[in-house]
Amino acid sequence: MCQQLGEPESLVLEDRDPALCGSGQVRLRVRACGVNFVDALFVQGRYQIRPPVPFVPGSEVAGEVMEVGRDVDGWQVGDRAMASVGLGGYASEVVVHAAALVRVPDTLSDGQAATMGQSYATAWFALTRRTTISEGEWLVALGAAGGVGLAMIDVARTLGAQTVAAASDDAKVQLCIQRGAHKVVPYGLEPNSSEVKDAIRAATNGGADVVIDTVGGVLAEAGLRSLREYGRLVVVGFATGTIPALPANQILLRNRTVVGVDWGAWALGNPADNAALMAEVMELAADGRISPIEPATRPLEDAGAVLRELLDRKITGKVCLEPSPVPIGS
Ligand SMILES: NC(=O)c1ccc[n+]([C@@H]2O[C@H](COP(=O)([O-])OP(=O)(O)OC[C@H]3O[C@@H](n4cnc5c(N)ncnc54)[C@H](OP(=O)(O)O)[C@@H]3O)[C@@H](O)[C@H]2O)c1
Repeated sequence: MCQQLGEPESLVLEDRDPALCGSGQVRLRVRACGVNFVDALFVQGRYQIRPPVPFVPGSEVAGEVMEVGRDVDGWQVGDRAMASVGLGGYASEVVVHAAALVRVPDTLSDGQAATMGQSYATAWFALTRRTTISEGEWLVALGAAGGVGLAMIDVARTLGAQTVAAASDDAKVQLCIQRGAHKVVPYGLEPNSSEVKDAIRAATNGGADVVIDTVGGVLAEAGLRSLREYGRLVVVGFATGTIPALPANQILLRNRTVVGVDWGAWALGNPADNAALMAEVMELAADGRISPIEPATRPLEDAGAVLRELLDRKITGKVCLEPSPVPIGS
């Protein structure tokens, strides 16, 4: 629970009475809570929405249905499900509207299901709704060993693109190679924009078709300048905390495009379209055409420590939190 906005270390574990499971709602026993960068932004009060305190952070969960409210069709106790909840996910159970539940295919573990919704929805939204990527085109992901970066690499591969993973350290680029990146650009903890641009151009035989920017700072301009004719810079996030100012002449040159991606707000405002998007993503997962990374597992009480590691760039891949098992009959 976040009792006051601040550093993630201030999160506390608290017992609370379970919420009522009302009409149209379902209670989910949480087996795994995904940890996302946005959770840290909420706790620090740096996200565009500031919920009133106290609140429980945690934007996505997976588990099994333990109670079905009135007027709910299609869900039964014991069904496996995942949900994007925005807040409230760092908990042993959540109550959500049945429409927000997504069925988990057997191909995904609870950990994978709890850590792939946000990142893969963002990747699929970016590459099928906001821009496109064609077979043989080059996609470059900055911050590629993060959640969104790894999802972008996986989705781009399944769409037939060639992929370049750009990341800070050796362990991160090695993970990206294991996860299917065709080429890598290691850029260190203090990247030099011009060097990164040159390295991307070299890796992509002259220029990228799509650059995914989840980090901002100096890498955004490197990404823009590395694009070939008709290239697209896809603005997804600012993990560095620095919102870049891009030189407009670099957009004009080579007929480039800068594309914004705001999956979260779009999903809230367009629930039916988002349900269709998620159905597409889950079909890819069920068919094995995407394969989300298996996350490292940590106990729920480590939430603050994991968020700190995420903010300090010490996490490679994904992490999920596991609530302690709830005693039978409780
Ligand atoms: N627009 C949308 O719809 C949408 C959806 C999901 C997420 N996001 C945003 O996208 C960003 C990335 O999310 P994510 O879940 O992929 O996060 P993540 O798993 O923490 O990955 C972020 C990556 O950014 C890099 N980074 C560079 N400088 C950093 C710094 N100063 N602090 C922390 N990380 C730094 C790190 O890679 P290196 O160490 O290799 O540089 C890290 O792996 C966040 O800002 C998030 O809010 C946006």
